[in-house]
Amino acid sequence: MDFDFTRLPPEDRYRLLTNFVGPRPIALVTTRSECGHTNAAPMSFFNVFSQDPPIVILGIQTRGDGNEKDTLVNIRRTQEFCVNMVDMEIADAMILCGINFARDVDEPAFAGLETSDCRRVDAAFLTRTPCAMECRVERIIDFPRRAIVLGEVVEMTVRDDCLDPQGRYVDPTTYQPVARLHADNYIVADRQFELKKPVEAEAWEAAQAAPSPKKAV
Ligand SMILES: Cc1cc2nc3c(=O)[nH]c(=O)nc-3n(C[C@H](O)[C@H](O)[C@H](O)COP(=O)(O)O)c2cc1C
Repeated sequence: MDFDFTRLPPEDRYRLLTNFVGPRPIALVTTRSECGHTNAAPMSFFNVFSQDPPIVILGIQTRGDGNEKDTLVNIRRTQEFCVNMVDMEIADAMILCGINFARDVDEPAFAGLETSDCRRVDAAFLTRTPCAMECRVERIIDFPRRAIVLGEVVEMTVRDDCLDPQGRYVDPTTYQPVARLHADNYIVADRQFELKKPVEAEAWEAAQAAPSPKKAV
């Protein structure tokens, strides 16, 4: 089956893209509302794209009525936000935060999630998240009915039990993120495996890097 994306209605493109590009990590994005409470919304148009500068990206579309979502309104105003990664412990609460609440609703409080003020940005993070990334807006790229937000990570807070004793790598037995598949389907990273290059790889790579012998003229 073949789909001409230049002719396909946006809702069909959405269905196909999100059905096949997955699992997508979920950012539970917390922002500060104008009246000072914490707003939280899950975003799976999300990923990390660079470490220097450390850039994460969110894709935020408008609501059905064309109005901007609270998350984007808050990000535009404060120029700051926090990405909270999601595991099974907070998955049910994450779904509650995805409900289209009125602007003055404190979603973490509604979902039973405890928060604490971020260290470097004007937002709160979820205390039980495995990992919180405090971000400052690097730039916002506006499209009709959506915005792509590039955020520079300025601080990361990791739940202690998610790291190895040296504090360098995740402990895969405790850090098992939940990601979005298609529609209402999700997956948890509880069946991880190692995939290593074959032992010959080093020799193959060295051979590629070696200068090719000079040809006689
Ligand atoms: C798992 C999940 C992922 C989502 N990903 C996105 C996304 O990437 N972009 C988006 O605009 N909305 C996304 N949504 C919908 C928003 O979370 C939802 O519209 C929410 O009510 C927005 O809240 P806000 O108005 O407080 O920002 C997602 C919802 C769920 C449950």
